[in-house]
Amino acid sequence: MKKNKTLLLSARDVQEIILNKGLNEVMDTLIERLEKALQSYHPDEVKIPMRSGFNYENPVMGLIEWMPLYHKGNDVVIKVVGYHPDNPTERNLPTIISSISAYCTKTGHLKGIIDGVLPTALRTGASSAVISKILAKKDAKVLGLIGCGAQAVTQLHALSRVFDFEKILIYDSNKNAINSFAQRTHALELNIPIQISNITEIVGQSDIVCTATSVDVGLGPLFNGASTKSHLHINAVGADFPGKVEIPLSFLQESFVCPDFKPQALVEGECQQLDEKYIGSDWVQVIQNQQDYTKYRNEKTVFDSTGWALEDWVVTDLFMEYAAELGLGTEVELESIPEDAKSPYEFVREIPIETLVLREVEYIKNESK
Ligand SMILES: NC(=O)c1ccc[n+]([C@@H]2O[C@H](COP(=O)([O-])OP(=O)(O)OC[C@H]3O[C@@H](n4cnc5c(N)ncnc54)[C@H](O)[C@@H]3O)[C@@H](O)[C@H]2O)c1
Repeated sequence: MKKNKTLLLSARDVQEIILNKGLNEVMDTLIERLEKALQSYHPDEVKIPMRSGFNYENPVMGLIEWMPLYHKGNDVVIKVVGYHPDNPTERNLPTIISSISAYCTKTGHLKGIIDGVLPTALRTGASSAVISKILAKKDAKVLGLIGCGAQAVTQLHALSRVFDFEKILIYDSNKNAINSFAQRTHALELNIPIQISNITEIVGQSDIVCTATSVDVGLGPLFNGASTKSHLHINAVGADFPGKVEIPLSFLQESFVCPDFKPQALVEGECQQLDEKYIGSDWVQVIQNQQDYTKYRNEKTVFDSTGWALEDWVVTDLFMEYAAELGLGTEVELESIPEDAKSPYEFVREIPIETLVLREVEYIKNESK
C-alpha cells in the first residue's frame, strides 16, 4: 500500500484539544479566525453553493443535508449534518449530529474527517459573537436566551467573550432544559446570574436575544407584538428549515435584517417571511464594511443565521491545526491505493512466479500455432 493517510479527529480528540487549549482560548481563536475569514472572503476564491439534502417524515421527522465548500486550488470541505429534533427527548441524542470531511483537490484524497457536533455548536456561537460585535449595543448588559438546548450553551459562551453581561434571562418550552441550563453552562465559570423568565420579559428586557429553538414548522414565531428595547439585537439561530420561523414578521419589518447567506435564508431562514427588498446586507458585506453598519447599534437588528459552510471550513481548519500541534487524532489508510494504480485486485494473492512463467510459455506456444 502507498501511504495515503486520512486523519480521523474523533469526538474524544476534539474534547482533548479543548481540554488542552482551554474553552475560552478555543472560542476566542475561533471568533478571531471567523472574523478574518469573513473579512477576506471573496466568492471567486471560495465557492459555497447552497446546501442540499433530504427532508423526511419517516421513520421520524428530520433531515440530512450536505454543506459543501471549495477553496480554489486547495481543498473541498463538506459537512453532512442531521437535524432530528426528537433526538434529545426520545433517544438522548443531540438534535444536530454531524461530521465534516476535507478533500485534496489535486488527487481527490480524503485528507481528514472530524466530528461535526461540537465544532458546529462552537462555530454557530462564534458567528453570533462576530456579528453582534457590529450590530448590538457595545454596552449590552442583558442577554436573553429563548431555547436552552445545545446551541444556547455556545451562544452564551461566545457572546460572553465579547460582551460584559450582568444578567442572563432564559426560557425554553421544556422544563428540563431550563432547569439543567445552569449546570450545563457551569464549565464557563461566568458568575453571571441566570434568571428563568418568559418570552415577553426576555424580549422586553434584553439588549441581545438569541433564539435557538427547535420550534416546529408552522408553530412559530415564538412571540408576537411584544414590546422591546429600541436597540434590541436578535441572533435568530433556529430557523433553518422551510416553514420554520422564530421571529415575528412585525419585528423583522422594523429591523435591519442581516442574513448569513441570503439565497438560503430566503428558503429556510427568517427571510422566508420577507419580501427581498426588506432584507439588509448579508454578513459578509456588513463585516467587510463595518464602519457603515455600526449606526444600526441604536436600532433593532436581526442576524438571520441559517448556517454557512464557511463557518465549518474555519472550525475544521482550526481543529486540524490544533491536532497537528498536539499530536492528536488517528491516521488510517481508508482508501484502497494499490502499488500499481491500475491494479485494484493486486491484494488478492501473490501468484508464484513459476506459474506465471509457465502460463507465459503456454501463451506464446498457442500464439505461434
Ligand atoms: N444557524 C445555524 O448555523 C445553526 C446551527 C446549529 C443548529 N441550528 C438550529 O438551532 C436550533 C437549536 O438547535 P439545538 O442543537 O440547540 O437543539 P436542541 O434540541 O438542543 O435545543 C432546542 C431547544 O428548543 C426548545 N424549544 C422548542 N420549541 C420551543 C418553543 N416554541 N419555545 C421555546 N423553546 C422551544 C426545545 O425544548 C429545546 O430545548 C435548531 O433548530 C437547529 O436546527 C442552527
